[in-house]
Amino acid sequence: MTFLTLILAAVIGLVPAPVEYSPKTCHTSFRKAVAELEPWQQKEAYRLTIKGKKVKIEALTDEGRFRAQTSLEQLRALGELPQGTIFDYPRLQHRGLMIDESRSFKGLVFLKKQVDAMALLKLNVLHLHLDDSAGWRIEIDSFPLLTEKTAFRLGYTYHQWEAGKYRFSTADDPSAYGGYYTKAQLRELVEYAAERFITVIPEIEMPGHSMEVGYAYPEVLCTLEDDTVCRGAWDLCPGSEATYRLLEGVLEEVMEVFPSPFIHIGGDEAVMKTWPDCPKCRALMKREGYTSVKQLQGYLVRRIESFVKAHGRRIIGWDEILETGVPEDAVVQSWRGVSGGQKASASGHQVIMSPNTHCYYNYYQDLIRKEPKAVGELVSLRFTYGYEPLAPGMAPEHLLGVQANLWTELIPTPEHAEYMLYPRLFALAETAWTPSSAKEYKGFRKRARRLLDVFRARGYNTFDMDTESDLARSGLQRFPPEGQPIPIDD
Ligand code: ACM
Ligand code: ZN
Repeated sequence: MTFLTLILAAVIGLVPAPVEYSPKTCHTSFRKAVAELEPWQQKEAYRLTIKGKKVKIEALTDEGRFRAQTSLEQLRALGELPQGTIFDYPRLQHRGLMIDESRSFKGLVFLKKQVDAMALLKLNVLHLHLDDSAGWRIEIDSFPLLTEKTAFRLGYTYHQWEAGKYRFSTADDPSAYGGYYTKAQLRELVEYAAERFITVIPEIEMPGHSMEVGYAYPEVLCTLEDDTVCRGAWDLCPGSEATYRLLEGVLEEVMEVFPSPFIHIGGDEAVMKTWPDCPKCRALMKREGYTSVKQLQGYLVRRIESFVKAHGRRIIGWDEILETGVPEDAVVQSWRGVSGGQKASASGHQVIMSPNTHCYYNYYQDLIRKEPKAVGELVSLRFTYGYEPLAPGMAPEHLLGVQANLWTELIPTPEHAEYMLYPRLFALAETAWTPSSAKEYKGFRKRARRLLDVFRARGYNTFDMDTESDLARSGLQRFPPEGQPIPIDD
């Protein structure tokens, strides 16, 4: 790739910017052009030649042809048909978006619409957070009470539910909020996504963030010495065999629905409050010679990992899984900043980078006073665009990919979710696809602004880039004290 083709690639309207664009027709063979690429890059690589109104697509696979077609679709929607040759392939293998369907449930129509958007942006992984304390969202035949008892709750928003002391209800209660996906719906989503070369990765959260599971099946909860069940606990009991019967039964059914090579098992933020006093946990600690309750989390993760592996899949877990020992082929998803990713790479794991500093799109994208209530520091378009996923010290071969996460405690509607995603997901897509040397914010901002109109015309509710504050435009991460001047250079 020459400097000129790189510069020109960012001149045409595509998001993510392609690897190369030349106004000339290229005559080298396509096979030769991709010969040096990794096999997973070759699969997605394409060359698009536009001469007059004639378009020629070259690719080695249907996936490559699909990526070319989405480029063409985007260019046509932008009203552009640049003459010459686009040669393109991805930088990273895993280009993802996570949607939390537990805290607020948005349904199949919403998910399919986001899959369409992801396809247009050349993203290829939809990670579904299907259960959490606020609601179980996938039909499981062998444990029907998960949906019967916890897919509906009293409290439309997460915080209303919290204020009402975490009460669940049932589908026949007209005042209840909630829902869940049937297996047929999820199979339909998996197929719809696969037609767009997007893999859906399910997440079944454990052992923390699992209050709803204990509400439906109290045998997975810790007890006290006198057998009193620790009702309302956020964690599963790692010392109870009932926990493994339930998790393995659930995962068997989940793996029947989702053919993805990876199954996400959560692993984050277990509070471990009930574990020290639970006789089942204590017995397990004694048997295994553990000196800290934290080691119980490692026991559970390793046991589930070998179950998943025996079914021919690999696990992904949030970066906490590193702290208590996990086999090397588990993929670590770094969320507490980038250090989890760095440590995971140092111990030989593949890594998905989704640090909350840059990739949490439930965080504010502009001034607090101007935006719907959100969390965190500022993750403006410019700030998230500046993210480089290969953290210092990380081996490039360990960097599987990058992902945006949308947690939905404060995002109750589909319209609000889209508002938080677009255009920030454009930035994530460019970070994931385009060579880092070709990224340049000002040009990206112009392309993103034009693509945003396409999204609006297609019915997406987006953030308004035209009213973005100086602070957001500056790319600063922190909200400065009132009255402090904002440096701005565009
Ligand atoms: C997380 O944000 N707790 C993974
Ligand atoms: Zn226990």
